[in-house]
Amino acid sequence: MTSLSSAPGHARAAQLEVRAALTAAIDTVRRNIERFGDRYPDDTTRDGFYPLRPAAGGVPEGGNRGWTTSFVPGMQWIAWEATGDDVFRDAALRHAANFEERMREGVDLDTHDLGFLYSLACITAWRLTGDEEARAAAIAAADHLMTRVLEPAGIIQAWGDLSDPEERGRTIIDSLMNMPLLTWATEQTGDKRYAEAVLRHTLQLRDNMIRPDDTTYHTFYWDPTTGEPLRGATAQGAHDDSCWARGQAWGIYGFALNYRATGDERFLDASRRCAAYFLAHLPADGVAFWDLVYTDGSDAPRDSSAAAIAVSGLRELALAETDPAAAERAVEAADRILASLIAGYTPAEGESDALLLHGVYSLPAREGVDEGNLWGDFYYLEALMRTADPEWRLYW
Ligand code: GLY
Repeated sequence: MTSLSSAPGHARAAQLEVRAALTAAIDTVRRNIERFGDRYPDDTTRDGFYPLRPAAGGVPEGGNRGWTTSFVPGMQWIAWEATGDDVFRDAALRHAANFEERMREGVDLDTHDLGFLYSLACITAWRLTGDEEARAAAIAAADHLMTRVLEPAGIIQAWGDLSDPEERGRTIIDSLMNMPLLTWATEQTGDKRYAEAVLRHTLQLRDNMIRPDDTTYHTFYWDPTTGEPLRGATAQGAHDDSCWARGQAWGIYGFALNYRATGDERFLDASRRCAAYFLAHLPADGVAFWDLVYTDGSDAPRDSSAAAIAVSGLRELALAETDPAAAERAVEAADRILASLIAGYTPAEGESDALLLHGVYSLPAREGVDEGNLWGDFYYLEALMRTADPEWRLYW
């Protein structure tokens, strides 16, 4: 990690806080390995603690299904890189084997979330340890994701079976985060089809899912036959025209990552626009309400996971900025939000087995409201790690 000795006093103090928070978070990751073994917790905590993932769809309790299980090995890989303790690597490698089995047996793969799942669980296993079976599983995941490209729109359908009339032609802002799996597949195989899909999909989102006022739709439908863009709608936001906070944070981060992958300046601009709106609609402590329609004075719940994603997204945006002042502003905003998360949104000893408190999964569905969640934990740990060590290489 970078040296503290040359930093000015306040910067040194902030770095020390980040490192202390990183140590505390890694202690929780360690305790969760002891508690869960190779089984998976549920998406969110209940009254502060993760239950085992319930059995569903033929997958037993604690089994690997849904979109959030890879955040478990993702956190273990960060913990391994930060500490060198092989307990973390060994646990993460067992999860990689489990994800290879999930792909081979075709368990719960009808989703665009293969990017979240296989980037963290398998590409990272291969990159950090040379696990070839994990690499092959990640290529297979990229191929499976490519089956979800809908022509002629060139979008990747987010949810459900491709023949499901409710979901056909629909994608969601979070899908931007699934694109790095395809970018990697082109790098690995030399087959440009994956990278072309990234460009077309991301361009469709940039053109249709960012509104003129720089807010984003959560989901958007294209006509599956003609490819015409049809309409935006929400699933997890306050209403169709509101700006769901986590979606806006996915926009900051996802457009910035896809700018890095493609060099297309339109994506850099899209990330900037998402960031500007997000930062202008935060309450005083910098941690977003679950939907950006709520402002200071509201008693609506916060979504700490949106804040954690935004911290990492703003740091990614800062790396892309060529103007040093713009980069500095993005880093300052990221640091302010991260300091607030550390100070006000982390558990006291024994209070929770989440790394981060006060997230919201879906308020309309009353799911995981004012609870910890696996992606909030992961992105908080990622934000701590990249702040503590700006040279650290991301998993996306
Ligand atoms: N990708 C689902 C979510 O952010 O809730």
